[in-house]
Amino acid sequence: MGVSFLFISCLAYCFTSISFQQKVLFTTKFTIMELDFKTSNSTLLVRQNAEMFSMDYDYKNKFIYFPRYHHNDIMRFTYPSTNITLETVLKTGTNPSGLAIDSKFDHIYWTEIGTSSIVRCNLNGTYRYTFPETIRNPFVIRLDLANRLIYYVERRDGIIKSSFNLSEKLKIVTLNERVDCMDLDIDEERLYWITYDKGELKSASSRGNDVQQVISTNSNINNYALRVHRSYILYGSDTKLMKLNKKPGSIPTELYNDKNAINSIYVD
Ligand SMILES: *[C@@H]1O[C@H](CO)[C@@H](O)[C@H](O)[C@H]1NC(C)=O
Ligand SMILES: *[C@@H]1O[C@H](CO)[C@@H](O)[C@H](O)[C@H]1NC(C)=O
Ligand SMILES: *[C@@H]1O[C@H](CO)[C@@H](O)[C@H](O)[C@H]1NC(C)=O
Ligand SMILES: *[C@@H]1O[C@H](CO)[C@@H](O)[C@H](O)[C@H]1NC(C)=O
Repeated sequence: MGVSFLFISCLAYCFTSISFQQKVLFTTKFTIMELDFKTSNSTLLVRQNAEMFSMDYDYKNKFIYFPRYHHNDIMRFTYPSTNITLETVLKTGTNPSGLAIDSKFDHIYWTEIGTSSIVRCNLNGTYRYTFPETIRNPFVIRLDLANRLIYYVERRDGIIKSSFNLSEKLKIVTLNERVDCMDLDIDEERLYWITYDKGELKSASSRGNDVQQVISTNSNINNYALRVHRSYILYGSDTKLMKLNKKPGSIPTELYNDKNAINSIYVD
């Protein structure tokens, strides 16, 4: 009895953990796509004439949220879903680019490069709060929910680590060049980013030291997207979606190639 019970619960667990790793979402200039890691099959989820440079997931209510850079709004859709319908969450200030969900307190955080600010609201778009700090060219935002820390990128200046109320900040990495993507590796306490013009994929400790060049993306334009996913780094190299094992010396593999640049990536 005991043995067969164990066997069944292991099957259920294994099935769940495998199915969670199977999909990655990414966007191009006109589309939101889903790619199945196992089959390499890609599916069009949404076609729209709007650029977006980030997306994040609200696990509790199963919504993907994303900002539309030129439309100045934040949209969401239920995922997974067989019938995807976009819903406007709220209108934003000029050029919202980075977005992250605080699933602990049910907040959306986003950066507005056009207004030099970081803004927060509830998941349904109510109670908007614009932090009073002026932030130069904020493009990327990531949340370390366990340690209650915000990491954001000032596009040509640096990577900043800050408290959730933004009143205590520290520039942990100085950038003298444009950077449009960055992600946290929570497990290994590191940061990864790509320099936009040279395509250098770099990493540092979450304190900002031990800066290393990981690889070159071999693209000197459109280095917009990067996500750390378990032992892998997924990134956009112009029109290509690439996958790289974090182990030093690994060779990246191509998952997908589009007509347009890869603008953002989301993976569980
Ligand atoms: C790929 O996806 C399409 C559309 O969802 C489906 O019709 C097709 O069977 C899939 N192919 C594979 C190999 O899974
Ligand atoms: C898809 O969802 C929309 C909005 O909820 C609804 O109006 C439409 O009928 C749905 N279409 C299908 C095929 O279920
Ligand atoms: C929006 O969410 C907040 C926080 O969960 C809630 O208090 C409020 O009633 C919601 N408003 C609407 C219009 O749904
Ligand atoms: C901001 O957050 C930090 C760390 O949580 C805290 O020490 C500080 O008192 C807060 N400042 C304000 C003005 O709330």
